[in-house]
Amino acid sequence: MLSYRHVFHAGNHADVLKHTVLLAVLDYFNQKKKVGPYWLIDTHAGAGGYRLDAGRATTHAEWPDGVGRLWNRTDLPPLLARYVEAVRTDNADGRLRRYPGSPLLALRAMRPSDKLRLFELHPADVKLLAQNIAGAAPDAQKRVAIKQEDGFAGLQALLPPPPRRGLVLIDPAYEDKRDYAQVVTAVREGLQRFATGSFMVWYPLLKRNESITLAGKLKKLAPDWLHATLSVRAPAPDAEGGLGMHGSGVFLVNPPWTLAAALKETLPWLVDVLKVGADGTASYSLETSAQ
Ligand SMILES: C[S@@+](CC[C@H](N)C(=O)[O-])C[C@H]1O[C@@H](n2cnc3c(N)ncnc32)[C@H](O)[C@@H]1O
Repeated sequence: MLSYRHVFHAGNHADVLKHTVLLAVLDYFNQKKKVGPYWLIDTHAGAGGYRLDAGRATTHAEWPDGVGRLWNRTDLPPLLARYVEAVRTDNADGRLRRYPGSPLLALRAMRPSDKLRLFELHPADVKLLAQNIAGAAPDAQKRVAIKQEDGFAGLQALLPPPPRRGLVLIDPAYEDKRDYAQVVTAVREGLQRFATGSFMVWYPLLKRNESITLAGKLKKLAPDWLHATLSVRAPAPDAEGGLGMHGSGVFLVNPPWTLAAALKETLPWLVDVLKVGADGTASYSLETSAQ
């Protein structure tokens, strides 16, 4: 059953981490002009864009303690300045009322020759996704394909992408704890088909075994990886499911070599600005296979 709706969480601390890293990776891909076009495959795309000032996002809004805390800062480190600038595209009058999801952020960051492949299962969100994509780029038909299919299964049929350059974003809801095992399988099988591809997994930091052991399993799949986490509060003693999320992590296989240095500058800053409470339990971690 699909009960998860990303609109409740849009723009929270986890989106800040995930979308900042996503844009950093795409900007790196974009720099390599001579190597030609690439594909981004987003296996769990969501609705593409979210209203923050109406309906669902206003009940228990999470964005004020996420992107909201960065919105008026004038001292953002470069990766965060880039991210906030991307969110401004949807909020031209300066008031933060809309939040772009990964598909919209990516589409705007990518070049006309690059292709976006999106999977989203929820019938309401896939409809919104199609509308949001069509509204964002006049040439979306040429650049984007959306499928209302299981992203884990659909991914493998697209690998390797024809240009042999690509990033796979795997960002499930994890409401079903089988998602953790599916992520590991998807990356393992994905690497068998596309060993030079980049893979980016987002996951929640929870006091549950599946979350705690995920990065260790992913580290065994490839020689070149980066793992970053951002924890904004102490773990809740009763943490279960999505409710007890105290932070989140991103795990990248075949990351840009420039990413670790950029995150080293960004993550301490994020801890300081996004922490909940002053008890010193907010923290970050950054590790790479090269260390
Ligand atoms: C965390 S949200 C995605 C957010 C989006 N990637 C972003 O960053 O803006 C996870 C999405 O996965 C969808 N979903 C759940 N199971 C799925 C599956 N097996 N295949 C594709 N989409 C799925 C949910 O409906 C939800 O919209």
